Amino acid sequence: MLFKEINFNYAWGFPQKGLLTGLDFRLKSSYNESINMVKITLKTLKNRVQKEIKKTDNLKELNAIFNKYLGKRGEITQILRSLEKLPKTKRVKVGRKANEIKNFLSIKLDQKAQEIKEKLKKETEEKEWIDITVPGKKPLLGYLHPLTQVRRKIEEIFQAMGFSVVEGPEIETEWYNFDALNIPKDHPARDLWDTFYLKNGLLLRTHTSPVQVRYMEKNNPPLRIIVPGSVFRHEATDPSHEFQLYQVEGLMVDKKVSVANFKAIIEEFFQRFFKKAVKSRLRPDFFPFTEPSFDVGISCLICQGKGCPTCKGTGFLEMAGAGMVHPAVFKNSGLNPKNWQGWAFGFGLERLAMMKYKINDIRLFRSGDLRFLNQF
Ligand code: PHE
Repeated sequence: MLFKEINFNYAWGFPQKGLLTGLDFRLKSSYNESINMVKITLKTLKNRVQKEIKKTDNLKELNAIFNKYLGKRGEITQILRSLEKLPKTKRVKVGRKANEIKNFLSIKLDQKAQEIKEKLKKETEEKEWIDITVPGKKPLLGYLHPLTQVRRKIEEIFQAMGFSVVEGPEIETEWYNFDALNIPKDHPARDLWDTFYLKNGLLLRTHTSPVQVRYMEKNNPPLRIIVPGSVFRHEATDPSHEFQLYQVEGLMVDKKVSVANFKAIIEEFFQRFFKKAVKSRLRPDFFPFTEPSFDVGISCLICQGKGCPTCKGTGFLEMAGAGMVHPAVFKNSGLNPKNWQGWAFGFGLERLAMMKYKINDIRLFRSGDLRFLNQF
C-alpha cells in the first residue's frame, strides 16, 4: 500500500502519468525529501519481493515476479531509470543502493528458481521411477483376417502350379451371371442361385463363374486362371450359409484338357493346402455351364476316409462343384468349342477355412468378434 501511495516509478519515469515529473521535481528542488522517499520505496519493494519469492512454488510465478519488478518495465527497473535525472552526486548514492537491492533480489530469484527446479526434479524422479526388471508390455500388432490368410495361401499354391490370379466385378449383368453361362431366363436352374437384384437392372454376382466368360472374351487359350472374390446369395443364414462369401473359381483351357488333368491339379492343391495326404472323389452333378458336371469330394481330414461324425460316416467331404466347360460357354466367350477343351471348378473359401481350422459356424468370419479373430 505504501508503495502505491508514493508511486515513485511514475513520479520519474513516466511524466505523463506521474504527479511529479523529473522536471517538476527539479523545480520543486526538494531532492533530499524525494531521495528519502525513493529509499523508502526501494526498501518496501525489497521486502515485498522477498515475501513474494518466498510464497511462490513454481517457475511461472517466479518469472512473473521477475518481470514485475526487475524486468524491462519492472518497478525497480523504472526507479533505476528515473535516477538518471538526478544530479550526479545524489544519483551515485541512491543508485548504488538501488543496484544493491536489484542484485540482491536477482540472486534471491535465482536461488528460488534453483530450489524449485530441484524440487521438481526430485518429484518427477520419485514419480517416474522405473523398475527395469518389470517385463515390458507387448505392443498389439494387427494381423490378417483368417479368410485373407487362406485366400493368400490358395493363391500361392495355384500360382506355383502356373495359374494366374484374376478378378472380376462384384456387380454383374444378368448376361454374365446367367445367360452367358447357359442359364437362360425362366430356366429353373436360375433358382439354384438366390439372387440380389439391383434397381438398375444389375445384380450382385451369385458366383465367380461369370469371370470365366469375361476372361475368355479377352484372352486366348491356352489359359490357367483362378478367380477369388466375393459372391452374394439371397438366403437365410445358418451355421453353414452366409449371404456374402468368398468363392474361388478355377479355369483351365487348352487343346487337350481332360478330367484326369483336373483330378491331378485339385488333389495336389488340397494336399498342399491341408498339408495332408488327400484323395479326391468325383460324383455326377449338374451345372448348366459344365458338361459333364461333378461334385468334388475329398477324403475326410478327420478320419482319413474311415467314416466319422464330421463326414457323416461317408469318409468324404464335399468341397467343390466342377466340370468340363460347356460348349455354349465357349461360344458365348467367342471361342470355337471344336478347338478347345477345358475344365472349371468353384469352391467356397470359407468352407476350406472351416475345414482347416475346425470352425463350426460360417457366420463367425464376419461377426467382428475378437474372441474368435484373436485365435488366428
Ligand atoms: N459356380 C458354381 C457354384 O456357384 C460352382 C462351379 C464352378 C461349378 C465352376 C462348376 C464349374 O455353385
